[in-house]
Amino acid sequence: MSNPTEAELIHIFKGIPFTTRSSPELLKSLDGFDAREDDVLLVSYPKSGTHWLAGVIKKLYDTQVTITSPIELGDISNLEELNKMSSKRIIPTHLDYNMLPANFKNKKCKMIYISRNPKDIAVSMYHYYRENPNLPTIDTWTAFLDVFLKGNVVCGSWFDHFLSWEEHENDKNILFLFYEDMQKDLPKVVKEITLFLSLNVSDNVIQDICKKSSFSEMKSDTEKENNDPSHTVCSLTSNRNLIFRKGAVGDWKNHFTPKQNRRFEEIFNEKMKLSKMAKCLIYEI
Ligand code: A3P
Repeated sequence: MSNPTEAELIHIFKGIPFTTRSSPELLKSLDGFDAREDDVLLVSYPKSGTHWLAGVIKKLYDTQVTITSPIELGDISNLEELNKMSSKRIIPTHLDYNMLPANFKNKKCKMIYISRNPKDIAVSMYHYYRENPNLPTIDTWTAFLDVFLKGNVVCGSWFDHFLSWEEHENDKNILFLFYEDMQKDLPKVVKEITLFLSLNVSDNVIQDICKKSSFSEMKSDTEKENNDPSHTVCSLTSNRNLIFRKGAVGDWKNHFTPKQNRRFEEIFNEKMKLSKMAKCLIYEI
């Protein structure tokens, strides 16, 4: 059987490329989605550390919570499933702020936005494209970087995504986190999350959760549970083995040529010239 064509894998909705795993009917219905006041949204551009964050958050609750499938995944029946869910919902999404169902905004639901330096995201996404049968074929790193910089990848431009969320930097119901801070001092970030979610978790338990959330622990848990049909928190795959690749800060240095780096920085500096949060991004530790 021949590989699926790009048109079979990708469609454009409101100018943003989505995989066909997100049906146009579902995307059209999102705005009418009924949020609950106690919903928590886990927001990210793909490859920013969503699964890491979800793994930590799941361990913080001692009451019943469900990390749902991403809100933009599937067809309308997925939204119906979400509506029927009786437990508290932690809902992952890669949507940019403008596409987020209005009800989450009106109800001031808590949202956690995790970001990561875009050079490492580009590299992570490149490998993900190569391994993931739900995404178009990519020939070379050079070709992928070009597509990434133009925003012609799933979920659209990293720059636009980041900027759409940064506009809400001062909203009290949104917590902004960085992947690199989790790498530097996970217990500190986890403490911040518990305060934001008003969860009472002791420092000892936090330490324990951090140990269980290391890259190697999470990767080996995934390998053990791989026979389970458990979903991922990414709308682009249901294969958890594709998620845990290297888990490092600075892998971009093994991929970018000096010329590619200069081009990246030129585009970054132009697009992010008004962004304060972009100045907090860290490219090595
Ligand atoms: P790499 O491809 O650079 O290794 P997402 O969950 O948003 O798809 O992000 C996936 C990225 O997060 C991958 O990056 C993955 O290795 C990394 N990651 C996942 N779990 C991690 C952990 N426990 N610690 C550090 N990085 C982790």
